[in-house]
Amino acid sequence: MKSDSYINISRRNLLQAVAAACALGTLPLSTRAQTAAGAKMKIGVVGSGRVGGAVGGAWVKAGHEVMFSSLNLEEDRKLAASLGGGARAGTPREAAAFGTVLLISVPYKALPGVGKDLGDLLKGKIVIDTCNPIVGRDGDMAVAAREKGAGLASMDYLPGARIVRAFNAVGYARMAAAAGQKERAGMPIAGDDRNAIAVASALIRDVGYEPVLVGTLAAMGKHLIPGTPLAGERSPDEVRRVAVTLK
Ligand SMILES: NC(=O)c1ccc[n+]([C@@H]2O[C@H](COP(=O)([O-])OP(=O)(O)OC[C@H]3O[C@@H](n4cnc5c(N)ncnc54)[C@H](OP(=O)(O)O)[C@@H]3O)[C@@H](O)[C@H]2O)c1
Repeated sequence: MKSDSYINISRRNLLQAVAAACALGTLPLSTRAQTAAGAKMKIGVVGSGRVGGAVGGAWVKAGHEVMFSSLNLEEDRKLAASLGGGARAGTPREAAAFGTVLLISVPYKALPGVGKDLGDLLKGKIVIDTCNPIVGRDGDMAVAAREKGAGLASMDYLPGARIVRAFNAVGYARMAAAAGQKERAGMPIAGDDRNAIAVASALIRDVGYEPVLVGTLAAMGKHLIPGTPLAGERSPDEVRRVAVTLK
């Protein structure tokens, strides 16, 4: 991979991407209004556990409207009440309908069911995918997903979604604290849709990381899991240096 294949998404890049998407009519109207103005976004969290709770909570603190969902609506109501501000709770389908952007953060073995349950709500939706195939937890389907590559496997399970893999290989406890750090850590991300990458990048910045696009879902999605050289926390430049060594 050549270093010039990185896209380092700046705010200027984001505005350009949003403007281009508006001109082409490829970005939903609600996304155009929110991102172009730099205003708050509506985010649906599907899987409000450790990662979904930490990142979703950080987005609430950053001023976004976040609907939390899981298999336990009562817990999600408690979480939303504890966060206040723009936090609310709903079912996974309600969160998917609510969010202009979705954070899907469930055990990998739940991903096929989530894709089926959310169905048409995923079509064209920007989805930030934190989910990792972990063999010890997810079983044989995780073996298959690792062989295929997590980026491609997630595309199969979430058809029609504009996926950006992110938050895959940093511990959830760090995610809640990142916004308070002086030096931004790099957040390696992989994706295929330029506008989805731009919108996800702005949201990643809002929780204190510097997004570093390391490549496409097919080429680099497989490296965005724990235990690979990109796992852990490092500076944006270090993320770039490591990424060029990977195929
Ligand atoms: N933990 C980390 O530090 C970390 C870091 C990076 C990436 N990841 C990856 O991110 C994903 C989430 O990890 P986590 O640690 O946050 O897991 P977690 O704490 O177990 O949370 C998973 C969440 O998914 C919900 N869920 C499960 N099945 C669902 C379904 N069918 N529909 C809707 N919600 C469903 C669970 O709801 P209930 O509680 O109601 O069952 C729970 O809220 C995993 O794939 C993991 O490998 C984890």
